[in-house]
Amino acid sequence: MRLRSVSFGVRDVEGQAHFLRDVFGLVREDGENGCVRFSAPGSIEPAITTLRPAPMDRADAVAFGVDSRSAVDQMHDHLVGLEADLVGRPGPTADGGYGFEVFDPEGHLLSISAGTAVRTPPPHERGKGLPLDVSHVVFNSSDNAALADWYCTALGFRVTDWLEDKLVFMSTSRYHHQVALAATPEPGLNHVAYECADIDDFMRATGRAMRLGHEILWGPGRHGPGDNAFAYFRSPAGFVCEFTTELAVADSPDWVARTWEAVPEQSDLWGTSNPRPPAFGASGDPGLGIIPGSSEELRAAA
Ligand SMILES: [Fe+2]
Repeated sequence: MRLRSVSFGVRDVEGQAHFLRDVFGLVREDGENGCVRFSAPGSIEPAITTLRPAPMDRADAVAFGVDSRSAVDQMHDHLVGLEADLVGRPGPTADGGYGFEVFDPEGHLLSISAGTAVRTPPPHERGKGLPLDVSHVVFNSSDNAALADWYCTALGFRVTDWLEDKLVFMSTSRYHHQVALAATPEPGLNHVAYECADIDDFMRATGRAMRLGHEILWGPGRHGPGDNAFAYFRSPAGFVCEFTTELAVADSPDWVARTWEAVPEQSDLWGTSNPRPPAFGASGDPGLGIIPGSSEELRAAA
């Protein structure tokens, strides 16, 4: 599967849109009903992030693409067999494809589809610190081992690494992680990462955000698991967004998942980052896009 997009509901669409365009460098396009979508030059997706006006700030869903309608049907049948928390049957999607939605066992809504409109990625100009694509999402989880089992069994992910029992990294692509699960008391969205072309663009992106007055939450540094550079910022709506680059390729048949130690030397290989904030990923932090409570609302709307 490919990671397509992350959608949010926010109270202040303009504030969040300003952040995503002017600070994070995504390309804005206004839609209907106050919705805004964002693309990036390296992506075949017309939108890698969307915003809609909402009475509370929250992450709505994470969208994945599969290759064909039959793959959608097969995955749906498989999930029916697992008694997954499905939202309806496969059918036409709002973006012109064919798909369905499913809640993972902790209530994160996933959209799975095929045949949605794609585009030829426009040329990317290096040296401007503009992200190419969405890289990965991290969910909070009250039982990340069990939830990782579900992602592997239900959706075909493979575990690529652990950070002690605090984080589990998973992928269906050649890269080290598309989804990771952070151990926290409550589920929710921990952060969304946007991929920069190289270290230079990554640092320019990070520097732009800092010059615009945004405090760097954690970074810049380089993680051990995934070997990717990281710089995290908090958006006006409270969501944590990351610039990243050089995420490791981890599709070798002899890849063996290892357990990294949760120590600064392995979480920040370069030793350049500020200490990781204790509240990063904590459930009590209202800025991390907590999804719980949305399930019933979304189910009612489905
Ligand atoms: Fe990340």
